Amino acid sequence: MDYLEIEGGHKLKGNVVISGAKNSALAVIGATILSDKKIVLKNLPNVVDIRTMLKLLTMLGAKVEHNDTEAIVDCSTINSTKAVYEIVAQMRASILVLGPLLSRFKECSVSLPGGCAIGQRPIDLHIKAVEALGANVELKEGYVVATAPSSGLNGNKIIFDKITVGGTENALMAAAMANGVTEIINAAKEPEITQLAQMIDMGGAKVEGIGTSRLTVHGTNGKALEFKEPIEIIPDRIEAGTYLCVGAITNSEITLDRVNIEHIQTSINKLEEMGCSFELAENSITFKPASNLKGVNIVTTEYPGFPTDMQAQFMAVATIASSESLIEERLFENRFMHVSELNRLGSDIWLKGNTAAVRPVKELNGATVMATDLRASSALVIAALAAKGTTKIKRIYHLDRGYDRLEDKLSKLGAKIVRKRD
Ligand code: EPZ
Repeated sequence: MDYLEIEGGHKLKGNVVISGAKNSALAVIGATILSDKKIVLKNLPNVVDIRTMLKLLTMLGAKVEHNDTEAIVDCSTINSTKAVYEIVAQMRASILVLGPLLSRFKECSVSLPGGCAIGQRPIDLHIKAVEALGANVELKEGYVVATAPSSGLNGNKIIFDKITVGGTENALMAAAMANGVTEIINAAKEPEITQLAQMIDMGGAKVEGIGTSRLTVHGTNGKALEFKEPIEIIPDRIEAGTYLCVGAITNSEITLDRVNIEHIQTSINKLEEMGCSFELAENSITFKPASNLKGVNIVTTEYPGFPTDMQAQFMAVATIASSESLIEERLFENRFMHVSELNRLGSDIWLKGNTAAVRPVKELNGATVMATDLRASSALVIAALAAKGTTKIKRIYHLDRGYDRLEDKLSKLGAKIVRKRD
């Protein structure tokens, strides 16, 4: 199995180009099902999850040409509406085919995703959303089996009692080809939702309220969407935030190119509170390290609040700050798997319930650690870049799922990082 070997303690310098957002691309790929014409996708990140999602489309019968950051997807040939366990078990985001399959083909079965390293992650809200549009949903042999009325889904009010990114995405896609108007209330407002809503709007199902928590979708009454222009995936705000944390922990000036600064504002604010500074340009940002890196208090919440997907990386940076940090995780009940691994590198983190107290240590020391999920893994990389000596990070397939060319990008900045095999 592959592992990463990182020699810590080196100062980095230079530019890093931020890739397309994995989580936006996953939803956009799901939405291609709503069309029966070819769609060109650009700026896809070259990561395993994207290949898995495209493979799922192929398994449904779609034709996919994929080359690094571009794909041409043709969903006119879809001849199956079943997302099988083997693929859903590899990637929970496969659930994003539920809404579009049901909207276009009036039926689908999608395997239940099962357990996850960061929390229970139920899909009850996705199911409630399609039920609100008239779908009949049954759970059979581990599958969500959903059927729309023979005339198609019907627009209605979908009220989310909890904000959900994936649930909002499925609701948007289900509503796109439904009959009449759907109102989605308490919708998620993440940039990934905005990109998906804009795509659906561009494809012919008018969406109002984009960027707000109340989305109105004018369904096409069964007409497939059409995309004449390529869809360009937005920059990955979590990858960008991760490289800012790399700069903070290695005390290095790093410039990120091709970023959307608005999307990373909370990470910028927290790093400023820690004493770091920034130079902003239109699509790029230069990170300047703190002379005295201070501790910080963080509470994760929905966008535009502080993202749960940046919690682990900030915790890694906080380990060597000069004062204590408190980090509260509000979205996922088990997203602290990195704590014991960071402590193996010499940090002093205490957990009580969903809050971690990070007491500063003078230095981290290299050790062998284990990656447990995507963002926990990136936190270990960040810590390893500052740790004295050599760190081996095992189970890096988690990183490969979501970070595009991580070792290349870090090596170009001057990091001593190599991929090896046991
Ligand atoms: C998306 O997951 C992202 N994944 C996650 O990124 C991210 O951490 C999360 O949003 C929060 O920002 C993708 O976009 C593919 P949610 P999602 O539905 O949609 C509960 C990464 O590292 N909930 O907004 O699954 C849920 O358990 C990943 O890139 C229900 O109770 O997240 C959680 O507590 C990991 N019932 C909360 O809502 C449901 O039906 C928010 O989850 C759905 C969700």
